[in-house]
Amino acid sequence: MYFVANWKMFGNLKSLNTLNKVIKFSKSKEIKKGRLIYCPPYTLISSFLKKFENCLIDLGAQNCHESDVYGSHTGFINSRMLKNVGANYVIIGHSENRRKGETDKLINIKIKNAIKAKLKIIFCIGETISEKNKGKTKLILSKQIKLGLKKIKIKSNIFIAYEPVWSIGTGKIPKIRELDQIIKFIKGKFKDKLPKILYGGSVNTQNINDLKQISNLDGFLIGGASQNAKKFIDIVKKTYS
Ligand code: 13P
Repeated sequence: MYFVANWKMFGNLKSLNTLNKVIKFSKSKEIKKGRLIYCPPYTLISSFLKKFENCLIDLGAQNCHESDVYGSHTGFINSRMLKNVGANYVIIGHSENRRKGETDKLINIKIKNAIKAKLKIIFCIGETISEKNKGKTKLILSKQIKLGLKKIKIKSNIFIAYEPVWSIGTGKIPKIRELDQIIKFIKGKFKDKLPKILYGGSVNTQNINDLKQISNLDGFLIGGASQNAKKFIDIVKKTYS
């Protein structure tokens, strides 16, 4: 199982101290088969990497520019630069960026170039509350998958993170039965080699006991709770207990 910590726009150099607990945990037997990946803000990637030097915790970024070459794009960073600095993963298509105008087409270009840069991609999809209420969840997910992964043949480095927009940061999660069906539905979109599927949206130390029961799930994308080392570790431990 993969446990991906998305720190969003949080964290500073002081936060590095909070990682000690997680590093210790990552070296213990208690981690079982859990794989930890941290996606801090760009500013902290190098420092996190240094901190994780002697352990197996992996690093990712939270987004990237769509271009695969250097260019005059003030304030942006592309996937090659991320790989160069030591990141192995990148989150693409997060709803917080889709909301700001990131289109399926742009997401598709970003994914293609991240593949070229040899990054693993955490590709986020999910419906809004109004889409859910209109019964459009499957339609939206199908569209996001189809357009986001257009003309991408090799999907072995792609993780799909199902993050219902209405669940992010709200404390609400889908009904387990519904979630189970949606994960099956997403897997059903892929004939041959199935991508790994993560769930994200208000994962916490309580609801993990329910969430872990979903069959076919390969892990979790965790926002708020991942900034607290104790909670993050607790989520991993409970997943295996
Ligand atoms: P929360 O866990 O804070 O709801 O955030 C989820 C998320 O957006 C992870 O990418």
